[in-house]
Amino acid sequence: MNYKKHLLGISIVCICFPALSEMLPEGATKIPKASEIPNRLSIEYFSPEQIVEFKKLDHYSEPQWLTDKYVKTGKLRPVEQRLPDVPMVLKTASMPDGVGVYGGVLRHVIGGRPQGWNWSAAHSQGWGGINYIVQQCLTRTGPMYQIKPEALEVLPNLAQSWEWSEDGKALTMHLIEGAKWSDGEPFTSEDVRFYWEDTVLEPRIPSFSSQNALGEGAKLEIVDEYTIRWYFEKASQNQALYNMAFMTFCPGPAHILKSLHPKYNDNVTYEDFSNALPANEVPTVTMGPWVPVSYKDDQIIVLRRNPYYWKVDEAGNQLPYIDEVRYKLSTWESRTLETMSGSADFSNMENPPIYIETLRKLASPNSPTRAMFGPRNLAFQIQMNMNPTLSVSDDREAAIRQLNRDLKFRKAISHAIDRKSLGQALVKGPFTAEYAGGLHPETSFYREDDVVYYPYNPSLSKQYLAELGLVDTDGNGVVNFPKEVNNGDDVEIVINSGNGTADGVFNENLVSMMADIGIKLIPRLLDSVQGDSSRDAADFDWRLNRSDKELIVPMQRMEWLAPIAESGPIWHRGTENKPQVLQPFEEKMVNLAHEIFIERDAAKQADLIGQLNHEMTKNVYHVGLVAYPGALLVNKRIKNVPNAPIIAYQWAEDAVMRERFWVPQDQQLKELQPHTVPEYKLDTKK
Ligand code: GLA
Repeated sequence: MNYKKHLLGISIVCICFPALSEMLPEGATKIPKASEIPNRLSIEYFSPEQIVEFKKLDHYSEPQWLTDKYVKTGKLRPVEQRLPDVPMVLKTASMPDGVGVYGGVLRHVIGGRPQGWNWSAAHSQGWGGINYIVQQCLTRTGPMYQIKPEALEVLPNLAQSWEWSEDGKALTMHLIEGAKWSDGEPFTSEDVRFYWEDTVLEPRIPSFSSQNALGEGAKLEIVDEYTIRWYFEKASQNQALYNMAFMTFCPGPAHILKSLHPKYNDNVTYEDFSNALPANEVPTVTMGPWVPVSYKDDQIIVLRRNPYYWKVDEAGNQLPYIDEVRYKLSTWESRTLETMSGSADFSNMENPPIYIETLRKLASPNSPTRAMFGPRNLAFQIQMNMNPTLSVSDDREAAIRQLNRDLKFRKAISHAIDRKSLGQALVKGPFTAEYAGGLHPETSFYREDDVVYYPYNPSLSKQYLAELGLVDTDGNGVVNFPKEVNNGDDVEIVINSGNGTADGVFNENLVSMMADIGIKLIPRLLDSVQGDSSRDAADFDWRLNRSDKELIVPMQRMEWLAPIAESGPIWHRGTENKPQVLQPFEEKMVNLAHEIFIERDAAKQADLIGQLNHEMTKNVYHVGLVAYPGALLVNKRIKNVPNAPIIAYQWAEDAVMRERFWVPQDQQLKELQPHTVPEYKLDTKK
């Protein structure tokens, strides 16, 4: 299988600008070739129709206990009345083990913690795939990694089909008709309108999405209950379909949220809305396959099957097959260790410091876990905050922002990093590779020649700092700001990071590498909720960041690569009052991004993306550290698990389509809340 070529199905042919070697900036080199790592991921490909179809079937079924306990007692309508007239059918052709049986448990472990259930106000549910369960979006990209290159397209979800107008500026989408939220209320275009108009476009409410991310000046028209139409300023905004997937277009339940929103309720404020639906307010209302029904702080979230879920298999069985999903609230490392030992079922192995131990355990023939190793599509970076004013509270912070905006300073930092040692400190062996920042080295669109690399060269680094006026005037080993800046104090920089073992290794090594050039680096370890909120508020000098999917499929979240929207790259966000201040190279990147969006010729588009990567790396838009591979670990008792990379179009949790997972009856584990579905108190249906 050829993972690299496939990822966007594009073969790259033209390099339309001068060879890089002729124009390498001072100190820069070409990125060294990374050692080969075995990539054992063999992927089976399908056409979209072999994965999903919308079709009315003759007969539908559900678990027997559900009929007996809920339908026969009048608590729920019969399954055919809960399903849409034409449900989404997940096709047997692309199921590794075919039609399944009901029952059992899927056990997840996460290091994150839910901010709450109001994802329309940018609440995360703690990551690790729980967001993917509760947030259902208009389109779906995760499973696209399995689509044949020649048939590559964004998959339908709540939007069942769509068509572009002849001039390419209007996109009409048909929503699934008759699908219901988990409390039985209908899902309609009103949910979409509320999400867009009253949350995304409402500046007083934080959002995962933004108008320009969807397409410059995107406008929405509600045509009827199940039809919506988008208007764009320019033709062929194909990225809009990617951005209608997770996590940028997943409407919340308008019938619940309106009464919590100041536009519809005089007694509440915008802040109230942003804080609405805290984690302990369960059951939540979702369009997802499972519904959070119980929550214990720092312990567990239990999710039960959604009796209104709108997807079925070809035999008419309402999905999901598995009745209960649990999220144990622990650490990211324990997610992997517990999956290795068989006490959890699913983990993206992504913490290099525990790779050797997990590999040793995997080698045992009794290992309960199946592992799928993928390419090097994970990486760490330093993100330097470039907004001169946002969340700046003192002179030191203001001075750091100015340094961050200076290319010479960013080059100095890049030259201070010994990536080979950093990689080996993370995990011994051939796993890690030097990473210059920008697109992931082992995915499509990446062309070595685009990359400008500022490798380890501490003396050049010191020279640059001196040229910037940063010298150690008081002889304490730390360089000082020039007298007129921040009192001439020591240059101290706080780096926000997570609290996992990998973060620890990075912090320790970066502190000493920065000390070598006279910069005092102060790690600030944050849990997931603190990390999410300081990121969203742009409240950091530097951030240690593990990269995400935009570096694999740039189309998916272009605003995290180039500042096309105020929600822009994490390190250069803006608000109405504290806007982004774009530098010329950023303006150039924005233009490239817009050209990429509307370029229809695949080779030309790939070339433009290459140019974007060139600008990103030449200008050290973020400081690349090391790239490394991951593996998807799943318990062997789970059926219908396709081979998948841990991240491509989305993280594996979305890619593998857990609603199709099943467990043979004799291997099913005991459920915590057997034979139950969420029950809503009437007053939650405000
Ligand atoms: C976190 C985890 C990833 C993945 C995503 C899913 O970021 O580290 O492995 O589970 O959540 O959103």
